[in-house]
Amino acid sequence: MLHLDASTYVGRGLHRECHRHPEDPSLCVKVDIGGDPHDSRREQRFYRHLQRRGISWDAVPRWNGTVPTNLGEGSCFELIQDTPGVVAHTLQHYLESNEASGLHCRGLRDGLLALRRTMLSDGIVTLALRPKNVVCQRLGPQAFRLYIVDSIGNTDFIPIATHSGWFARRKVARKWARFEQSSWCATRKILSWRNFWAGCR
Ligand SMILES: Nc1ncnc2c1ncn2[C@@H]1O[C@H](COP(=O)(O)OP(=O)(O)OP(=O)(O)O)[C@@H](O)[C@H]1O
Ligand SMILES: [Mg+2]
Repeated sequence: MLHLDASTYVGRGLHRECHRHPEDPSLCVKVDIGGDPHDSRREQRFYRHLQRRGISWDAVPRWNGTVPTNLGEGSCFELIQDTPGVVAHTLQHYLESNEASGLHCRGLRDGLLALRRTMLSDGIVTLALRPKNVVCQRLGPQAFRLYIVDSIGNTDFIPIATHSGWFARRKVARKWARFEQSSWCATRKILSWRNFWAGCR
């Protein structure tokens, strides 16, 4: 059984804690912290589906199955890092620190456009896209590859977008339109997402 504690801790959201894998530094292990275990099951089902489809894994971290831990069942993923040992920051981090508006605007814009393209071509559907669930891997001073690390999958009662490329693309395009228009940044008086998007064009 893997032992996770403060020394392996990477980050947390509302439902899960993310830890570095104690035996393999290229992986992370996510455990539920009071979340609905059905969400993890749904995510695992969707990852199995992506594995069967043989997607490129350019937009989502690879999934390595589940492992027992001292904090309950863990779900094991590729840990997105800038360099070995340095965990990549979320898009929320870049937006909050204002690095996005200046220094990294173009790199993040290009990364976002590439992420959108890959999600469309690989048919990767998500729940609402949020900056805290996008991790930005630095490939160079001005280059990023962006990954969706959370909310992957489909909660529709009839999940047709999971099995039809056309419906998947339509759903992905809809989520992106909402993401581009979202006032997420503006409401926190950090940066208007719309300006960020427009200013980079
Ligand atoms: N594969 C990964 N590589 C690097 N960092 C990651 C990875 N997965 C998660 N993280 C970090 O851990 C945090 C929490 O993970 P995650 O978003 O999966 O938790 P959550 O509780 O499901 O989130 P939410 O509150 O959005 O439901 C992320 O915001 C990110 O900073
Ligand atoms: Mg999250």
